[in-house]
Amino acid sequence: MDKLIITGGQPLGGEVRISGAKNSALPILAATLLASEPITICNLPHLHDITTMLELLRRMGVELTIDEKLSVEVDTSTIQETHAPYELVKTMRASILVLGPLLAHFGEAEVSLPGGCAIGSRPVDQHIRGLEAMGAEVLVEEGYIRARSNGRLKGAKIFFDMVTVTGTENILMAAALADGQSILENAAREPEVVDLAECLIAMGADITGHGTDTIVVNGVEKLHGCRYSVLPDRIETGTYLAAVAAAGGKIKVKDTRPDTLDAVLQKFREAGAEIETGPDWISLDMKGKRPKAVSITTAPYPAFPTDMQAQFAAINIVADGVGIIKETVFENRFMHMQEMIRMGADVTIDGNTAVVKGVEKLQGAPVMATDLRASASLVIAALVAEGDTTIDRIYHIDRGYECIEEKLQLLGASIRRVPG
Ligand code: EPZ
Repeated sequence: MDKLIITGGQPLGGEVRISGAKNSALPILAATLLASEPITICNLPHLHDITTMLELLRRMGVELTIDEKLSVEVDTSTIQETHAPYELVKTMRASILVLGPLLAHFGEAEVSLPGGCAIGSRPVDQHIRGLEAMGAEVLVEEGYIRARSNGRLKGAKIFFDMVTVTGTENILMAAALADGQSILENAAREPEVVDLAECLIAMGADITGHGTDTIVVNGVEKLHGCRYSVLPDRIETGTYLAAVAAAGGKIKVKDTRPDTLDAVLQKFREAGAEIETGPDWISLDMKGKRPKAVSITTAPYPAFPTDMQAQFAAINIVADGVGIIKETVFENRFMHMQEMIRMGADVTIDGNTAVVKGVEKLQGAPVMATDLRASASLVIAALVAEGDTTIDRIYHIDRGYECIEEKLQLLGASIRRVPG
């Protein structure tokens, strides 16, 4: 397995362009299964997860035309099967997002149950319950979700037991083609949910309330094609800002959406960073100062995102003071802390709370990535640490960060990938 070798200890500086959002591109690619005409999706990030989703569509017989900028035209008229196999789903849980569209457009779907993952058990009971409320018959057997709709799904009022991003997305996509009105209550408000809704509206769906906790969908008979460009990745944006907040220096992040990062930008300001924003850019300048420790509690949007928790841990471990980090979304999302402790961090974990006492110096060490955002936080810690850090199992990083070493080299980082 490839490794990253990083020599840290120097401040960073420069500009980085942000790619399309992975967590917007995945539901939007699944939504192409709802269209009765070819549909083109632009600004897709070059990521392993995107390749996996395209492979999943291709396996079903969907016609894909990909151009050199990775814009993809999807034509579902050639679809032969509605099966998402375990061998693909086990590598990417977001494959579950084809369940709603397949059921709504083709009346049946067989999708492997996504297993748990490093950060938690991540059940999909809300996805299944919502589809059953719309009249689907759903069997979970032999590791597969087997669903049938016996005619068109029916609009329904669905209350999610907890805020679930992909649960909201699956039911939103199914409701777009259902017969009648659906009301999704306690819905996720993430920008990626809004982006999916905007894409469905461009396809002819009748949706209002997206971005609030109550989404109303009046089902239509057919969805037509469109050309849609995926929203910039707010977590990739936050990750590069966090790298400079921890290592020192200044950065301008371009092709991004500052309005999707209010809670995160506020925490950078609390950490002592000078933040400026424009319509599609954010600049961060540490003014040569060590970051101040910040306390964060993760929660669904618009609160501080769980996907930025590990990156802020990497800031807090070298910050001035003590920061308390509370993870309320996933049950096991502190694995990066153990690796940081091996680099000299002072972290005490009690359940879903980590108390981080900033230290002056970190030492480079061999560490191991465990999940996507944990890997990114280890890269940040390595950029700050003195000496060399080797990060193993970086396939996690390649799932969510396009050309991470090139973008960091543009910022002056000493980082190289060695085949493992
Ligand atoms: C999405 O995952 C993101 N992935 C995750 O990003 C992100 O961390 C997460 O939302 C929270 O923001 C994609 O969008 C592809 P949830 P998702 O359903 O939808 C529980 C990354 O790093 N739950 O919002 O799977 C669940 O266990 C990834 O890019 C149920 O109990 O997360 C969790 O505790 C990691 N039953 C909580 O809800 C269900 O049916 C929130 O999960 C569904 C969820």
